[in-house]
Amino acid sequence: MKIFLDGSDLAKIEKFNELGLIDGVTTNPSIILKSGKNMMNVISEIANVVSGSVSAEVSALDKETMVEEGMRLSEIASNVTIKLPITWDGLGACNILAQKGISVNMTLCFSASQAILAAKAGADYVSPFIGRLDDLNLRGMDLISDIKLIYSNYKYTTKILAASIRTMNHVKDCACVGADVATIPIEIFEKLIEHPLTNSGLSQFTADWKKTGQSII
Ligand code: E4P
Repeated sequence: MKIFLDGSDLAKIEKFNELGLIDGVTTNPSIILKSGKNMMNVISEIANVVSGSVSAEVSALDKETMVEEGMRLSEIASNVTIKLPITWDGLGACNILAQKGISVNMTLCFSASQAILAAKAGADYVSPFIGRLDDLNLRGMDLISDIKLIYSNYKYTTKILAASIRTMNHVKDCACVGADVATIPIEIFEKLIEHPLTNSGLSQFTADWKKTGQSII
């Protein structure tokens, strides 16, 4: 499973990219708002650091302007993926941009039928939102498994980019059901390494090694 960071904190993105742990980044208008920065600059900075896909979302709601905005955003860097909402206009814009060879991520996916439409429209990625479904007491992870089954039944090449991830278990479950990508908020990503037995085990081994009086180098 590929790991994308869902956020715009450049220092953290640089840090985890240097460790070779991340394959891309996703943003959305709320993330841009939180950054307090100009969107074009944010996307450009991230796309300079990360060689994989960097999703940038359009703001328009009509097909023609979505295409125009998508073209503009795709000029920022060759690894920019255009994020479009799953509406009829969004699907139409996806079809046009995909035919121009521009990578598209269809976002705000809450049903398997929407995911089928995204694949038919030629999207590179579809983003099912797990956490927002869980918030409504629905089973977000079931949507990931359903899309996985449907896409494999028909050999659709659209990649499942699991989004709206809220917990470490979401990440593990995405990997278990075979999501192609999980886009993880930075604060959740930083928790993935945590385990108290790792810390206590390391303290014990370090103390015992000291007692041996040996050195390796
Ligand atoms: C990423 O592509 C999505 O926009 C993001 O994961 C949504 O997360 P949220 O539901 O926590 O806002």
